[in-house]
Amino acid sequence: MKLNLSSMLDELGRVTDEPGRLTRTFLSPAMERAVKLVGCWLQDAGMDVKVDPVGNVIGFRKSPKPGAKTLILGSHLDTVRDAGRFDGPLGVLLPIVALYELNSRGIALPFNIEIVGFSEEEGVRFASAYLGSEGYTGRLKAGTLALRDAAGISVRDAIRQFSDQPLPKPRYRRRDVLGYVEVHIEQGPVLERENLAVGVVSAIAGQSRFKLTWTGKAGHAGTTPMALRRDAFAGAAEFALAAEQLARRTAGLVATVGSLTVAPGAANVIPGQVVHTLDVRHAQDRVRRAALLKLGRLTAQIAKKRGLKVAWQRTQDNGATDCSPGLTAQLARSVQAVQGRSLSLVSGAGHDGVVMSALAPIAMLFVRCRDGLSHHPDEYASPKDLRVALKVMIDFLEKLAGRSG
Ligand code: GLV
Ligand code: MN
Ligand code: MN
Repeated sequence: MKLNLSSMLDELGRVTDEPGRLTRTFLSPAMERAVKLVGCWLQDAGMDVKVDPVGNVIGFRKSPKPGAKTLILGSHLDTVRDAGRFDGPLGVLLPIVALYELNSRGIALPFNIEIVGFSEEEGVRFASAYLGSEGYTGRLKAGTLALRDAAGISVRDAIRQFSDQPLPKPRYRRRDVLGYVEVHIEQGPVLERENLAVGVVSAIAGQSRFKLTWTGKAGHAGTTPMALRRDAFAGAAEFALAAEQLARRTAGLVATVGSLTVAPGAANVIPGQVVHTLDVRHAQDRVRRAALLKLGRLTAQIAKKRGLKVAWQRTQDNGATDCSPGLTAQLARSVQAVQGRSLSLVSGAGHDGVVMSALAPIAMLFVRCRDGLSHHPDEYASPKDLRVALKVMIDFLEKLAGRSG
């Protein structure tokens, strides 16, 4: 049976932890089903398949050429809550279909191919992203392993429950890898504005994520005068608005409070404690760091004024990452060949390529998505644009084969 990319995306998009909407998080039951499904497609493309101890599904196809290097292709299989079906899966399924098509034309590549479906990139379960690629590259740090989800389970325990194998060691040395290439929807409006199906990425913005805990004093909502309150939610809300203002005033800066819990959480009780996330990004690390210093001072001022305590826990910190000029130029040649024009973009979203850049030169292909919308169930890339992206990937692999063969 011929593999069809749009049908595969639809089928994978129905694999969810939550009825009625698409949600797959690190090592969840739906992730296990997704990994099985993707494993079957990897086999259809003639690959040997394994799942590593952090839940990454890995397809490997050895080249007949002795001593060949490996080209790694991939992206993530987890999703945000109430997600679209393209963010992540596209970068896993498109290379599978590309390899399948090369196989059916009898083309053997002079390098090994590895296709990886990373088990975590979004940071939903532990408020820290890239757990899959950090596991794959042997870079999971003790601080990350100690993070806890909403049920109090640590990353380390979640991994232990999933597998009795030790944490993976890096599969490759840098010199054994040709590169890492990731295909992803753009998640922004630039390609649509330029009327282009695909573009190449020059760099990925840096990002920092935190959990902030505001502690005040719970009390009776009817009897405690306003001047005597130490309302943790009011402090957090003042901070969220101040962070929004700072980001609006600073070109290119984005700051988001995306998740918040209020305790004890009753209509007639003053909030005693609030825990919320903070996600701050900029293409230049210097601007992001300066913003974080300002935000730190702001929380201290708000806490003092309102008689609150505030604690910051850093859950993630990644600097801006450049794509490899050489590999990107090669990808751009294929874009040029297929589309007639190649456009270079900076990614505001994070990608597995950030972590993979520690192991290999990276390149990324962006695919236009409707209205630039992502992290939303209406996320959409047209079958026509997907065909362009597929052609680019096949052309890229063929050109790379010609160069390195
Ligand atoms: C991942 O999509 C991110 O940039 O948060
Ligand atoms: Mn993604
Ligand atoms: Mn995403």
